[in-house]
Amino acid sequence: MSLPSVKASMTTFLFLSLLTSFHSKISEAASVNRAYVCPKEPNFTPNSTYQSNLNHLLSSLSSNANLETGFYNTTVGHNPPNIVYGLFLCRGDVTPNVCQDCVSTATKDTVQHYCPTGIEATVWYDKCMLRYSNESFFSSMIDLPKYYSCNDSKITVLDRFDQILGTMINDSVTQATGAHDEPGATKFATKEASISSSIKLYSLVQCTPDISSYDCDKCLRGLIANIPFSCSGKQGAIALTPSCNFRYEVYQFYRILDTPPPRSGKSRISSLTIIAIVTPIAVSMVLLAMVYCLQRMSARKKSPMEEENESLLFDLATLKAATNKFSEDNKLGKGGFGEVYKGILSNGQEIAAKMLSKNSTQGAEEFKNEVAILAKLQHRNLVRLFGFCLEGEEKILVYEYVPNKSLDYFLNDPEKQRILNWSMRYKIIGGIARGILYLHEDSRLRIIHRDLKVSNILLDENMNPKISDFGLARIFGNDQTLENTHKIAGTYGYIPPEYAMYGQFSIKTDVFSFGILLLEILCGKKNTSFYTSDAAENLLSYAWKHWRGGTSLELLDPTIRDSYSEIEVNRCIHIALLCVQENPAERPTMDSIILMLNSDSVPMLSPQPPAVFLQSRAQTNMPESESDQSTRKSILLSVDEASITEVYPR
Ligand SMILES: *[C@@H]1O[C@H](CO)[C@@H](O)[C@H](O)[C@H]1NC(C)=O
Ligand SMILES: *[C@@H]1O[C@H](CO)[C@@H](O)[C@H](O)[C@H]1NC(C)=O
Ligand SMILES: *[C@@H]1O[C@H](CO)[C@@H](O)[C@H](O)[C@H]1NC(C)=O
Ligand SMILES: *[C@@H]1O[C@H](CO)[C@@H](O)[C@H](O)[C@H]1NC(C)=O
Ligand SMILES: *[C@@H]1O[C@H](CO)[C@@H](O)[C@H](O)[C@H]1NC(C)=O
Repeated sequence: MSLPSVKASMTTFLFLSLLTSFHSKISEAASVNRAYVCPKEPNFTPNSTYQSNLNHLLSSLSSNANLETGFYNTTVGHNPPNIVYGLFLCRGDVTPNVCQDCVSTATKDTVQHYCPTGIEATVWYDKCMLRYSNESFFSSMIDLPKYYSCNDSKITVLDRFDQILGTMINDSVTQATGAHDEPGATKFATKEASISSSIKLYSLVQCTPDISSYDCDKCLRGLIANIPFSCSGKQGAIALTPSCNFRYEVYQFYRILDTPPPRSGKSRISSLTIIAIVTPIAVSMVLLAMVYCLQRMSARKKSPMEEENESLLFDLATLKAATNKFSEDNKLGKGGFGEVYKGILSNGQEIAAKMLSKNSTQGAEEFKNEVAILAKLQHRNLVRLFGFCLEGEEKILVYEYVPNKSLDYFLNDPEKQRILNWSMRYKIIGGIARGILYLHEDSRLRIIHRDLKVSNILLDENMNPKISDFGLARIFGNDQTLENTHKIAGTYGYIPPEYAMYGQFSIKTDVFSFGILLLEILCGKKNTSFYTSDAAENLLSYAWKHWRGGTSLELLDPTIRDSYSEIEVNRCIHIALLCVQENPAERPTMDSIILMLNSDSVPMLSPQPPAVFLQSRAQTNMPESESDQSTRKSILLSVDEASITEVYPR
């Protein structure tokens, strides 16, 4: 798991050509920087115009790295001696934030370490590539030098391996190059294939989008054809060249995109077919649209926002009919924000209607707009919000119905606990992490949940986790963009100290709660069940004690001790402890948590001691000057097991 072991077991190959004219190497920091190439000569003169143009170029690349496209090329300067051409390419599956992080690291590292005075450079990281030169290289396919790096371990099932790998890579190349060649179209594809019942291969190919599909195909096939013989049958390989790259592993090292990215404008359907299908549809759509517009013109004029909200609107009569007048029999439970009823709409759709408690002070318009935003969030690990009802005093949110209750229902019952075996729990952990990552990074708005806990993790018919109640802190709390609030939403035991004591929240608030969730899933215990009036020991200090003592496996829920993966369990405990560290900055982001969950080659730091809410500790951390803080803390420490959603000290 540590960095040196990763390097030690990696065999690195450098394609022979250009070896002599370039001083180059595969970096020691394998998890981040993969390789770089920097000419020995020529160098630019320090403090020259070229250097200042280069610095300009690098900062321009860095500041354009949060674009959705994941690729950007630009030029600084006008005339040959001082003109600089540069581009970056981010791995096709990473979010704009990750892309930006990677590119800004790359621009800094290149001039500081790899190529301080080089007139040109190419630098490859795990998630991005950076390249610049005094000569134009845009739109040209460059496939030298080639780098290969293979995992030392062999795959044991060998007979069909080469064939499956070959087909998979062929398919990826076909998908990445596609049938279309519009400029700027993403040339990226991932594929998975099973080589045995327990082993799957995952591959990724990508070209810079400035080259044609033809060149992309040529680049990738050339790269693949030259894989060194000693790489054959290995558990993983990385191949890099300036215009294209490819990688495969026996674990899923990339993020699955829920929907194809907008920039990938490709499909294998020919344009002729598209026209044949699209024309009649388009004609009828236009006709329909005209009829619709005429109808609307005679009605009152509405803003697009209003129209959108209307499609989310349920009337109270419909919901009453669906839920048998909100009968006691239909009641699913009472959550932090109100009571939830099961219902069936007239079209057979099952719903869960949540009647919000009346103390949301938000105005109707604000509420509608908030719901419209939340309804747009769609992810397989989030409970889908269908719409809302707003009539008189009633505010009701209408969600998809998720049949298998919530995680706490299973964890709090010794019989049900047994149903959740280790592989289910591990799957649930991964799903929760992906759902939170979507809220944090992938949806158009950053949503901080602020109340993640086992009762907010619902389970569908296949026991996939779905996060509920996301965004409700926005409706009940205040503006999230300030990321600092005096109203605390959240549940005692799940919220980190900086939020409990100072009302400060950030994505790291959710990371903390995720850590607690993880420990609860592992231990099969509720964090709050550790809080007895005099016991100073809670789940965190219990987990920390075992971690420090090297007895982590003793934390494990006794009902799953018969079958579990020791590696996975240890990794989960390690991640959990990283998440609950006192300093929010040291807690990992969801993005790196997912990486750590999916791969044991990702280096993980040693966790610092967790944030523990001991009364004495809380007091010493209190700022003396702010008198209002003491009220908040005393309320907090006297609440036991209860949701403190409604605690709004002032
Ligand atoms: C090689 O692959 C195995 C299986 O994926 C992985 O556990 C190991 O960490 C890899 N080693 C390197 C050096 O990447
Ligand atoms: C370049 O400029 C920096 C700061 O402006 C200065 O410290 C440095 O000595 C200069 N280097 C050369 C070689 O002129
Ligand atoms: C980016 O590259 C394209 C060719 O792929 C070129 O036409 C365009 O001018 C470049 N953009 C800049 C800003 O240099
Ligand atoms: C780039 O720099 C090299 C080395 O100084 C020089 O030989 C070459 O002509 C330059 N290219 C352009 C287009 O200026
Ligand atoms: C992959 O594609 C190339 C060229 O299209 C072909 O020659 C080769 O046989 C294919 N390999 C596999 C394993 O399908």
